[in-house]
Amino acid sequence: MIQSKITRVFILAMTLAFILVAFSYAAHENVPDMEHGESVTADIPFVGAMNNLDVSIKEIVSAVVVGDGTRVLVAVEAVYGIMDKVHASVRAGSVKLKKNAGKTEEFTRMEKEFQGKLEKLADAAKKNNWEMMVSQTKDVIGTCARCHQQFK
Ligand code: HEC
Repeated sequence: MIQSKITRVFILAMTLAFILVAFSYAAHENVPDMEHGESVTADIPFVGAMNNLDVSIKEIVSAVVVGDGTRVLVAVEAVYGIMDKVHASVRAGSVKLKKNAGKTEEFTRMEKEFQGKLEKLADAAKKNNWEMMVSQTKDVIGTCARCHQQFK
């Protein structure tokens, strides 16, 4: 019983790690462009926020796989701060979406969805509920990916 629970958590953790690696790979595919100074001018704050999100989500995954709710909570709170900056950029009109630029309502909806998933993850972290943290983290990563599919 205990053993099968551990096995399940392990499999979930491996799945998560895999999704994360695949996702960061995809997210970084345009980094060489930036090194050549070709890309990104006005939207640097937004891209900076996204790179901070990238750091935070890795910390979240790493804390979730060892079942450390406190660390998860600290990282989730950092993400809230980053998303506040994203909201501010959107309001100031300094975010220039490269794809589907006209769909700002849908973008805002995705941001709210993201925020909602984060709140559920924070709840799981407060309860230090390992299985809930694993499944909510998958949900959060899924939202990162879905927004990128539409707008990145
Ligand atoms: C509401 C939409 C949305 C959500 C949610 C979102 N992103 Fe993004 N992200 C974007 C957009 C749009 C870009 C493209 C920015 C650009 O290149 O101008 C982007 C770009 C990125 C980049 C590449 C930055 C670069 O150097 O070009 C990374 C890394 C990234 N996001 C990480 C994340 C992570 C990790 C999450 C989830 C924890 C996340 N994002 C959630 C919209 C989103």
